[in-house]
Amino acid sequence: MAVAGGGGETGRQSVIGRGFLERHHLCAWSSSTSTWIVVRRVFKATHGTSIPAGHFVARRLVDRLLGVPFIRQYEPRDREALYEVCLRTGNDGGDATGLYQVPTILGEVYIGPYLRLHPELAWVIDDNGSASGYVLCAPDTTAFESRCEAQWWPALRERYPLGSFPRDSLDEEVVGIIHDPERAATEFLGQFPAHLHIDITPEVQGQSWGTALISTLLDELMVRGVPGVHLSVSTANARAIGFYEHLGFTVLSHDAANTMMGKHIAID
Ligand SMILES: CC(C)(COP(=O)(O)OP(=O)(O)OC[C@H]1O[C@@H](n2cnc3c(N)ncnc32)[C@H](O)[C@@H]1OP(=O)(O)O)[C@@H](O)C(=O)NCCC(=O)NCCS
Repeated sequence: MAVAGGGGETGRQSVIGRGFLERHHLCAWSSSTSTWIVVRRVFKATHGTSIPAGHFVARRLVDRLLGVPFIRQYEPRDREALYEVCLRTGNDGGDATGLYQVPTILGEVYIGPYLRLHPELAWVIDDNGSASGYVLCAPDTTAFESRCEAQWWPALRERYPLGSFPRDSLDEEVVGIIHDPERAATEFLGQFPAHLHIDITPEVQGQSWGTALISTLLDELMVRGVPGVHLSVSTANARAIGFYEHLGFTVLSHDAANTMMGKHIAID
């Protein structure tokens, strides 16, 4: 496992290149303006020519007609599906369906606040009209935590008072988080102020969509001038840790329960 520091590669260099563009249907990705600017710039740098007129639009139309999944910005209609994806991947990366008395309670902590406060930094994998994966992000973790304190947690605390569920139940564990939310370690926040969450349903895992979602997010954070992003992953989730390391994230700290990882983002 890699250790903190270094982080020489930029998000752009490590995940986007000529072969990557071709292999992973970048044309079908997010239509956010900034992403397209980066795509055009990288294409020109790697191919020595501009993207042929209409190429991406045509590919996108064909992919949609064929039902090929594609990445797009979050829309309010995706909300329920994202809560479902969160549950289906909420057991250290495995399925948590049936483990919670309230199936939406995990999503109330790990999805809801991001959709409310930063819908512009949420992308989904659209698989025949239904969202089967997502990446969510708060660009400034300190500001996000304050805004959650004011705008998100109070209503949930009223809905789920401490002791709502049996003491040793998983639901009650989440209620504990709602009443005493996890706070990011301040020593990382100067270098890695943003944080992200990513989850993909088993049907579309291992097909590079995770890489594509992270790349889409890193491009947007780069355009916004955010210098770095961190995340917390269950230490038991070896697959996800391997995935993040593959993308150039390094371990910032870890204990038996959680591993913190971070990645610098080069500012153009
Ligand atoms: C973790 C997750 C987001 C990864 O997304 P994905 O689409 O399955 O991963 P990708 O197909 O993009 O894999 C990207 C690269 O990581 C590599 N990778 C995957 N698992 C790896 C591992 N255990 N060790 C090393 N590399 C690994 C892949 O080989 C791939 O490299 P390649 O493109 O050169 O072949 C996704 O599997 C997932 O949502 N899992 C369940 C929920 C979860 O664990 N979420 C993270 C919680 S913090």
